[in-house]
Amino acid sequence: MTEAKATRLIAPDAAGLSDAAALLRAGDLVAFPTETVYGLGGDARNDHAVARIFEAKGRPRFNPLIVHLPDVAQARAFAHFSPDAERLAAAFWPGPLTLVLPLREGSGLSPLVTAGNDSVAIRVPAHPVAQALLLAFGGPLAAPSANPSGKVSPTRAAHVLAGLAGRIAAVVDGGPCDVGLESSIVALDPARLLRPGGLPAEAIEACLGAPLATCADPARPLAPGQLPSHYAPAASLRMNAHAPRPGEVWIGFGASEGADLSLSASGDLVEAAATLFHALREADAVAGPAGHIAVAPIPDHGLGRAINDRLRRAAAPR
Ligand code: TXA
Ligand code: MG
Repeated sequence: MTEAKATRLIAPDAAGLSDAAALLRAGDLVAFPTETVYGLGGDARNDHAVARIFEAKGRPRFNPLIVHLPDVAQARAFAHFSPDAERLAAAFWPGPLTLVLPLREGSGLSPLVTAGNDSVAIRVPAHPVAQALLLAFGGPLAAPSANPSGKVSPTRAAHVLAGLAGRIAAVVDGGPCDVGLESSIVALDPARLLRPGGLPAEAIEACLGAPLATCADPARPLAPGQLPSHYAPAASLRMNAHAPRPGEVWIGFGASEGADLSLSASGDLVEAAATLFHALREADAVAGPAGHIAVAPIPDHGLGRAINDRLRRAAAPR
């Protein structure tokens, strides 16, 4: 548990933005306005900062997060842009459009941001305060909407404080958001609308010169976060393992004597979340495709719920 500290309300002037950028560089969380809704920003390259985003929101799952960048040139360092992606970016960025694109190898993003997937959601926000903060910070910001999980998205600094005061370092107050609706999310090649949002689907289709596939069949949702592509290890996985069986690679938590790897030797759930995807990949590499991974029991509260959700899906029969 992170102890409660007062959340600062920061003015969007040069001094305030420089303070906000310093907090972000230190791995703290800062909410900031975009033209759609307020985002809860953290350094997208910092595993601990990203784990704290999930902790602050009380998210029961590691849904992948949107990476915010100031322009398409910087976005190209993190994802591969097809011709259609370039066309949409040129037409609608900065603005309320998020593109899901193939992740670039060696991008340096925390695997928690992409939930271990090889795709990444990228958005270039138009709000001048978001732009100024991104430039002051000088890197990619992971930012889901700045509300507790399951609550409505905030469109004013006061809404952010109502939900997250004491759980995040600061809110940059940029007044009310214009759009008030989250960004439209489009995956490409072929073009699919994953979430309707602030940019009308008709505008996207007109730009592409082709219709967007949408969620026509509710049995097969295209809804973000429900995509089946979440990373699963090739090895089998057993949860709640107090000790390894012969041949198992054992991932420990807390005091796990003889563990091959550890999510957190001190039993810290934020550290465990930050380490989870790295540990799964490492254990997978050691175990090999026909191998076996066992994971020590993880307490089922706070971030432990999201960790256990992820492990359950990795352990499910395939
Ligand atoms: O307007 C917005 O998009 C706001 C502002 C702050 O930018 N952000 C926002 O983030 O709405 P969030 O986390 O509340 O919603 C992001 C959605 C999630 O449903 C997530 O599953 C999806 O984007 N998403 C992120 N990365 C993805 C990926 N690689 N593939 C598919 N869906 C992805
Ligand atoms: Mg949200």
